Amino acid sequence: MKLTLSQADLTTVAVDLLIVPVLGGALASDPNLKLLDKAFGGELHRIAKQEEFTGKKGQALQLHTHGKIAAKKLRVVALAGKELTLEESRGLGAHAARIAKDGKSFAVVAPSSEALHLTALSEGLLLGHYRYTEYLTSAHKDPKPPARGIILTQDKPSAAERAALAEAGVVAEAVNLARDLVNRPPNAMTATALANEAKRVAREHGIRCTVWGKAEILRRGMTLLAAVNAGSQEEPRFIHMSYVPRSRGKRPKIVFVGKGLTFDSGGLSIKPAKSMETMKCDMAGGAATIGIVMAAARLKLPVEVHGIVPSTDNLTGANAMKPGDVYRTLDGKTVEVLNTDAEGRLILADALTYARSLEPTVLVDHATLTGACMVALGQWRAGLYATEDELRERYLQAAKRSGEAFWPLPLDEDLKETIKSPIADIKNTGDGYGGSISAALFLREFVGESPWIHLDIAGPAYLSSPHGLSPKGGTGFGVRTALEFIRSYAQ
Ligand code: BES
Ligand code: MN
Ligand code: ZN
Repeated sequence: MKLTLSQADLTTVAVDLLIVPVLGGALASDPNLKLLDKAFGGELHRIAKQEEFTGKKGQALQLHTHGKIAAKKLRVVALAGKELTLEESRGLGAHAARIAKDGKSFAVVAPSSEALHLTALSEGLLLGHYRYTEYLTSAHKDPKPPARGIILTQDKPSAAERAALAEAGVVAEAVNLARDLVNRPPNAMTATALANEAKRVAREHGIRCTVWGKAEILRRGMTLLAAVNAGSQEEPRFIHMSYVPRSRGKRPKIVFVGKGLTFDSGGLSIKPAKSMETMKCDMAGGAATIGIVMAAARLKLPVEVHGIVPSTDNLTGANAMKPGDVYRTLDGKTVEVLNTDAEGRLILADALTYARSLEPTVLVDHATLTGACMVALGQWRAGLYATEDELRERYLQAAKRSGEAFWPLPLDEDLKETIKSPIADIKNTGDGYGGSISAALFLREFVGESPWIHLDIAGPAYLSSPHGLSPKGGTGFGVRTALEFIRSYAQ
């Protein structure tokens, strides 16, 4: 979708649909409505009354304009209180995007011309409009141009406002890339394909990218990644992207790690058919990680950002790892695998061990790690673990600005008991209670002294129906908060 800023008069802007927000039920005093009502010869307020449109939050009034103004249709959308929140600006954008039809044009009046609100409005527009179409042959046969959107501002758009719009575009592209990668079916989205996408993104945006195949993974001692891959005909990949800002001097270094499990059958501890249906989503952490590095580079943030994605599928071939297997890991610890479906923590253990050798200022991982986290928090909220209070607070603040939902969960020392193994240093399952926590405690064994944030995104990474800015399917969850978090180190 193409978005532009304009100062055009709302009665003369020639679009298919004009969307006008009204705040706090202030129908009579709203200057935009006054202007429109005048163009309608006083009819607008009368129609609003007839349609019982009182301006209560969530209400909308839509009508044909019959040439009274240049736009063909007018839609008045009621927002809540007098204090406009970023959430509402974002929501208005998403609302407009859902109504905007491909091939049509629309204009939306910005409820505030503050840069932060413009960013939120345009993020809503760009994210709300997403659809996954790569495999729709009918859509390919009948290509419609995407919708064209105009954001109407009170004053002449300033350089800062234009920059805000451009930034929102970059962020939305990163989120939508992550969505595409997740939605792409697992026969197409193999580890090799994911690595090729990372390389393509890197090439296009001046990012460094190293990819290791099976031989190098084994040579480097990533035995757990190799073990999860052992049941598959597809080769694994270990992806390392790095964006180093041009400017000299000491910069914070944030290392993101993302679970890149391209399809999770459970392995020999096989999943029931129903639970397997959505398991192409298991590389969502990896997809988000690629999107984060891409956006950080394009926004030229003054922070060094790395993205590390261990990638494989988890299948049941003749060589598959077995419940009971013990592996010696990259970091030297021994791990007993009791459930081959707890594979995410295995590939992440190798990746975190590697990542900590980069001596990050902060290490952050995104992983669709446990069904238990969805049981605890519902499907729209991610679990957040941190080794330091200050870090947890900083991440939650970033999430507040992005509007993505996280909730802190404890790295409860008492549960360490549950991942003890009688024959190895640790085992890959707990006792069935607090499953998200025992998974986090397992990962913690591999981060060393690095300040660390672990995000269990099993719920919000992939949805069964649309919610807020998120479409059904892959959501790109995590990208926006991570970018806010990186920005907090840029000041
Ligand atoms: N990929 C799954 C977790 C998952 C579940 C993601 C639902 C998205 C939606 C993960 O690999 C897994 O299978 N976890 C097991 C762990 C258990 C065997 C200890 C789980 O959550 O059941
Ligand atoms: Mn699994
Ligand atoms: Zn998994």
